[in-house]
Amino acid sequence: MRYLTFALGKGRLARHTLELFEKIGITCEEMKDETSRKLIFTNEDLKFRFFLAKGPDVPTYVEYGAADIGIVGRDTILEEGRKVHEVMDLGYGACRMCVCGPKKAAPLLEHHELIRVATKYPNIAKDYFYNTKHQTVEIIKLNGSIELAPIVGLAEVIVDIVETGSTLKENGLTVLEEVCPLSARMIVNPVSMRMEIDRIRDLITRLRTVI
Ligand code: PRP
Repeated sequence: MRYLTFALGKGRLARHTLELFEKIGITCEEMKDETSRKLIFTNEDLKFRFFLAKGPDVPTYVEYGAADIGIVGRDTILEEGRKVHEVMDLGYGACRMCVCGPKKAAPLLEHHELIRVATKYPNIAKDYFYNTKHQTVEIIKLNGSIELAPIVGLAEVIVDIVETGSTLKENGLTVLEEVCPLSARMIVNPVSMRMEIDRIRDLITRLRTVI
């Protein structure tokens, strides 16, 4: 039997995923050692192989078939736009992609003003403003601490992830519009989907019993 290879987005998401897999008897002890610099881990009994990658790289590994399966946030899947099948909502990491800003920015969205939008997700933001809202905007790509942008005058609004809402609140910002709900998803390479359909189906069925 060939290895079924999983790419997991690093960090909180990977921890959740390993917990979930443990519940259905898929364990990988060596992966839990967070001090280890090892990149790839195997479960020889099940012929499963796991590796950790940066979130945005997970769909890339899966599209090219270097991983059969990926576990990553829906934000990353939408942003990267790779040719992969999204097969399952794993439920955790639930949050929302939102347009946020100071309350006074609300009329700018209503009146379709030409505004600047700062975001770590330029493709999601572009799609939302151009295809859903039909509003022409200037998208400014940032790499983190997006909430700063409206405060220091870089942009009128931001498109960002809102989980508890506390980052917005502490910075005097608010949700102005919701773009879409997000959570962790399982993605599969289209060829693996056909070649390994039985093992993938079995995995999904077992995961369903614990979600
Ligand atoms: C994310 C997101 C928000 C925050 C939302 O940032 O970009 O800033 O979490 O969470 P909350 O609604 O619970 O406050 P992250 O911590 O990933 O860091 P970043 O600013 O570097 O993107």
